[in-house]
Amino acid sequence: MSMNIKSLIDHENGLIDRRIFWDNAIYQQELKQIFARCWHFVAHESQVKSFGDFITTYIGEDAVIVARAKDKSINVMLNSCPHRGNKVCFAGEGKIRSFVCNYHGWAFGLDGKLNGMPENQLYDNTEGFDKSDWGLHKARVETYKGLVFATFDEEAPSLGDYLGDFRWYMDAILDIDDKGTEFIPGTTRSLLKCNWKYPADNFVGDIYHALWTHLSAAESTLKSSGGIHVSNENSYQSSVNGHGWEFSLANNFGNAATMGDKEIVKYLRSREEKISQRLGSVRAKMIGSVASGAIFPNFAFLPGYLTFRTFLPKGPMETELHSWTLVPSEASDEIKDRWRLGAMRTFSPSGILEMDDGENWEHATIGNSGYVTRNQKLCYQMNPTKGESIPIDLPGIVTKGQLNDANQRLFFKRYAEFMDAKSWADIPLAKPQF
Ligand code: FES
Ligand SMILES: [Fe+2]
Repeated sequence: MSMNIKSLIDHENGLIDRRIFWDNAIYQQELKQIFARCWHFVAHESQVKSFGDFITTYIGEDAVIVARAKDKSINVMLNSCPHRGNKVCFAGEGKIRSFVCNYHGWAFGLDGKLNGMPENQLYDNTEGFDKSDWGLHKARVETYKGLVFATFDEEAPSLGDYLGDFRWYMDAILDIDDKGTEFIPGTTRSLLKCNWKYPADNFVGDIYHALWTHLSAAESTLKSSGGIHVSNENSYQSSVNGHGWEFSLANNFGNAATMGDKEIVKYLRSREEKISQRLGSVRAKMIGSVASGAIFPNFAFLPGYLTFRTFLPKGPMETELHSWTLVPSEASDEIKDRWRLGAMRTFSPSGILEMDDGENWEHATIGNSGYVTRNQKLCYQMNPTKGESIPIDLPGIVTKGQLNDANQRLFFKRYAEFMDAKSWADIPLAKPQF
């Protein structure tokens, strides 16, 4: 029986029951109500450029293969053989002609179709067996400006409706010129002993932690510019369908600057005017500020660093983090490499900022093994700009000031909507206005 989650999330008063961070029954409900339902980022198109390219990842705990077939289509399918269930692909990424299962040798195409098996006459002579019924189970696939998303839910709305006006914000990274973006090759994978919602909550709107958690790291990398500048002046949080972005318009190139590479900041500055002509001055300024964003439920990024990451659930107390560095395709190889190094220095498993975060999320999770601890509420009450007007026209539910709990509260409100909904018909979608 599913649990009523709304009763655990007091969105209005900013109180959240810790149960959602430790309870296995709730976690199982998440796999069904959230992960089997939502659109999920699975790859950047640059990772599966041509026929035979594939990567493997997860949607919830379902292992999936993302592969480019001969007809150029991108296919997302379960990495589980329909014969006895074995995994058909064990590599993280590569190039291949077909996936052959280790167990009995069934062979699948890049489009997931079952192409053949050893001793195939045994099946040919079996009445009622139809090879076309036994391909790898496929997801729906749609892309948005280079990002590939998939869902296993036939009832889900289109990706465009799922993202809604959040696309307006995403364009500030994905549509800054005609050449688009790409991932630097390679995926960084690491395991964290934390609930997947801690990193999601952190990226959807928690700039507040940076002032304390990242203080020493930022001071060492940003010494010349005087550390991290974050305030509620000229900054905002915005939420669309549970996706969130918090940003400053102070134009200080904070994220990029934290990598300690002046050439990248110079590169971003040199492009600002062109981007402004293309997208307007607001989004031109959003690109490089101290900012973060997240797409519901578990896909996040930092503008300016251009680190992109997914928080893949492995039970209520473990998360597999996959991360990549996204760069503008038109940048020189030298700039791309500087970006790669900067991202490794800051937001890789050995990066100075990532280590700060991981430790906090792990201890926030592990503490819940204590019976008394796990029954306490968590405080999401910071709301210092309540009622203040927004002087510019921005999509979504907009709150003035980066330093508040607005986006995180809206993330958990959305979480409760999914967890309690019987079908997609019960899940509200904001109508695109921009
Ligand atoms: S389990 Fe894959 S061929 Fe038998
Ligand atoms: Fe952080």
